[in-house]
Amino acid sequence: MTSTKQEVQVSYDVSNEFFRLWLDERMHYTSAVYERDTDTLEQAQLNKCAVLYDYAEMNADKRVLDIGCGWGSNLEYLTLQRGVKEVHGVTLSSAQFEEIKARKLPGATVWCEDFLTFEPKEKYDALISIEMIDHLCSPAQANEGRAIEIYRNYFKRCAACVKPGSYFGFQAILRNRVPRTRADIADLKFTADVIFPGGLNPRLEELVAAVNPYWEICELKTRRVHYGKTTGEWLRRLRLHEKQIRDTWGDQVFVDYDRYLSTCVRAFANHWSSDVQMKLRHIDV
Ligand SMILES: C[S@@+](CC[C@H](N)C(=O)[O-])C[C@H]1O[C@@H](n2cnc3c(N)ncnc32)[C@H](O)[C@@H]1O
Repeated sequence: MTSTKQEVQVSYDVSNEFFRLWLDERMHYTSAVYERDTDTLEQAQLNKCAVLYDYAEMNADKRVLDIGCGWGSNLEYLTLQRGVKEVHGVTLSSAQFEEIKARKLPGATVWCEDFLTFEPKEKYDALISIEMIDHLCSPAQANEGRAIEIYRNYFKRCAACVKPGSYFGFQAILRNRVPRTRADIADLKFTADVIFPGGLNPRLEELVAAVNPYWEICELKTRRVHYGKTTGEWLRRLRLHEKQIRDTWGDQVFVDYDRYLSTCVRAFANHWSSDVQMKLRHIDV
């Protein structure tokens, strides 16, 4: 059981114009990678795409699938910045699907479909997936001890989509420590229940267990500080547009997103949450 289409729409279908106001111009909704102190959010998002491009051992001729492709930010990077000739994406959000079609990216094909039932016509040379796995296991399933089995099933499906020797640039939000105060626990629960219903951030050790026996971990980097900076910048931009957001989408939308992003900033600062990027190689011997 993944986040249902209805639950995904709660998270991503408020309005494309709303997200455009406080994300970067290409609408990356995942941690950026700050390589220099002077990096803007826009530059840091391109840095993130470059890391995953390298992890996936991409080149312009490889066919790649972006699993959980959002509003098409990484597909845009692959096609326009790197000249990749054939890129595919899958998202569960209709609003994101419409946005990607409107971008008219050369060589891009996208499906509004559940990856868990997605049947590729041809095997891919590479995979990229940026913070989609966080939608796959519900809190109830984790309580039943099913998290690793659910993530392993995802990695098995990913392996079935690629040719032998393929690489996978993978990124996920992580849950680390439990906060100490009831108020902080309530804020995290609010974020999970109201902003991202149906999902749960995995633990790093669950992912490390679940890639077996399908993928070898070649490289692994945690990005906690980078996600703190990213969410801090999203919050700053959200607040810059407070009046417009309250006037257009209502007070509750502003209040909820302000609470959620403030919680994220504290979550990364206090090690409640983190983020990981992995270079995975398909095991096919
Ligand atoms: C946090 S967003 C990340 C979007 C994008 N990768 C980015 O970097 O901005 C998670 C994405 O996963 C997609 N998603 C969640 N569950 C999915 C599923 N079962 N099948 C396909 N896409 C899914 C959502 O629609 C959304 O596009």
